[in-house]
Amino acid sequence: MKLNSANINVMVKACRKASKTVIRDFGEIENLQVSLKGPGDFVTNCDKKVEKILIDELLKARPSYSILSEEIGEINNDDSFKWIIDPIDGTSNFLHGVPHFAISVGLEHNKEIICGIIYDPIKDEMFTAEKGNGSYMNNQRMRVSSRSKLEDCMIFTGGPKRDAKNRELALKEYYKFSIKVLTPIRKLGSASLDMAYVAAGRCDGFLQRNLNYWDVAAGIILVKEAGGFVTDFNGENEYIQNKTILATNAKINEEMIEVLK
Ligand code: IPD
Ligand code: CA
Ligand code: CA
Repeated sequence: MKLNSANINVMVKACRKASKTVIRDFGEIENLQVSLKGPGDFVTNCDKKVEKILIDELLKARPSYSILSEEIGEINNDDSFKWIIDPIDGTSNFLHGVPHFAISVGLEHNKEIICGIIYDPIKDEMFTAEKGNGSYMNNQRMRVSSRSKLEDCMIFTGGPKRDAKNRELALKEYYKFSIKVLTPIRKLGSASLDMAYVAAGRCDGFLQRNLNYWDVAAGIILVKEAGGFVTDFNGENEYIQNKTILATNAKINEEMIEVLK
């Protein structure tokens, strides 16, 4: 059993509080699916409520930290520490009543992610990581998988969205991987959980274009602290700038980059 740091405790507390609203609202979705209006606005409101709970809790504990959050954008305080928040990652799943989504919070210090938490409230799986302290799922240490041949691996991806500018390219990349791996590529619909699953060794590699920082911030530290690699599609450490991300176990990173060339 590990000892949580003060920052991780703050994040866990905020996520647990926010998850009560997520679970309650998810329970309403079934009724709304059959209503004429559908659950669209309801889900947008839930996103906003969850974001507010997270921000209130985080600012109560750390009033000087800045914030970047999907729905409200930036709150500029002390710029050296910044919370990066995705209140619900996997909104389409949520909207359709599919129980696979998460709350994702990362903490950046001087532009580097130092803590991350991804919480799946339905499965009650709390993924946490802190720089130098390893990655954990419900307090159990996590390690990336050890599969070394791409053909034996399970690969996750997401997108492309209908109007994505690199749509054709993303589909080409999908095709290139689909002929390499034995198990068909998975698209589970929550980038943060995709990365948490790489960290947990459930999946061997994840790649995606056009993600936002809040989709991947917490996942980056989870994968790294579990012994994996996080790079862009060129194998460089620029996954934010060019908006491509590749998160893998320690063995298939190069082979995946080769496929992408
Ligand atoms: C989305 C999910 C999805 C990914 C999309 C994201 P949201 O986030 O992470 O897996 O494919 O690109 O936008 O909108 O549910 O927070
Ligand atoms: Ca997201
Ligand atoms: Ca979201």
